[in-house]
Amino acid sequence: MNESDMKVAQLRAEEVILKYLPEEKGYPSTVISAINYSVKAGGKRLRPIFMYETFKMFGGEGEVIEPFMAAIEMIHNYSLVHDDLEAMDNDEFRRGRKTTHVIYGEGMAVLAGDGLLNMAYETALNAFDIKGVNKSRVINALKILSGKSGINGMLGGQACDVDAEEKKRDVDLDELMYIHENKTGALIEAAMKIGAVLAGASKEETEKISRVALLVGTAFQIEDDILDVVGDEKVIGKRVGSDIKNNKITYVTIKGVEEAKKDAKEMSEKAIELFDSIGRENDFLRELILSMIGRTK
Ligand code: IPE
Ligand code: IPE
Ligand code: MG
Ligand code: MG
Ligand code: MG
Repeated sequence: MNESDMKVAQLRAEEVILKYLPEEKGYPSTVISAINYSVKAGGKRLRPIFMYETFKMFGGEGEVIEPFMAAIEMIHNYSLVHDDLEAMDNDEFRRGRKTTHVIYGEGMAVLAGDGLLNMAYETALNAFDIKGVNKSRVINALKILSGKSGINGMLGGQACDVDAEEKKRDVDLDELMYIHENKTGALIEAAMKIGAVLAGASKEETEKISRVALLVGTAFQIEDDILDVVGDEKVIGKRVGSDIKNNKITYVTIKGVEEAKKDAKEMSEKAIELFDSIGRENDFLRELILSMIGRTK
């Protein structure tokens, strides 16, 4: 993966996201400040990048992708703000700085997360204001965004993760796969599927890229579980050992670090095989998927 190409992609995504962030003014300025604190902290911006690159791969043109790029990052950020709360993973560091609830308090962090979720849909709806936009594609994209964020997607996975932890119950590999495919896979799937749909990809192409994304997303969470054990805090920007602290059952506790690494690599390779079978080209996206193998951040 060419680091400077990645930097360019990140800057492009960031520019789009920043355009849609609210101004910190008026009576709700504290919650707006908490929202901006969490989004402006940086992060890899992978979901908007995956979305944009998939859009490009299927020949997408114009600005219709932009509100959706910002929206998916807002939903991702909301999930992180809530994930870090005391009531969930109770983490005090993310992206190299203090988490939103540490700075703004629990109540304001809950509201900032809720605010981001609302703002995501408000932002995505801006796509309808673009001249000459294909409305049915936008409606489809909205269905994917809302569906993959809720109980049949990210929230479903997070709920199962929390349920298992709170009840201290055993989680087998089957359930863990459900958790990973949903808490993390679903938003990456949404990102790439929306890119495909907005570009006008065929049904078959959209179905294939969704399967690619789900494999990438699941492998990505396995790597996250690995990094929680062997990662470098300065590089990942989070404390290591969060899962251990919470007695969480992860891919690593079930299979061990070495097997986890092997499985994540296999999943990514399967994703690439499927990706190549689509017969469209985007070398950057292909490299990006491959760079997820054994990632360090
Ligand atoms: C963190 O996601 C939460 C997981 C789904 C593992 P990222 O690793 O993409 O976080 P940022 O956006 O780069 O901070
Ligand atoms: C988080 O999984 C997934 C979501 C926030 C949806 P983790 O709890 O493992 O993510 P990190 O390690 O805190 O980033
Ligand atoms: Mg969590
Ligand atoms: Mg967490
Ligand atoms: Mg983690």
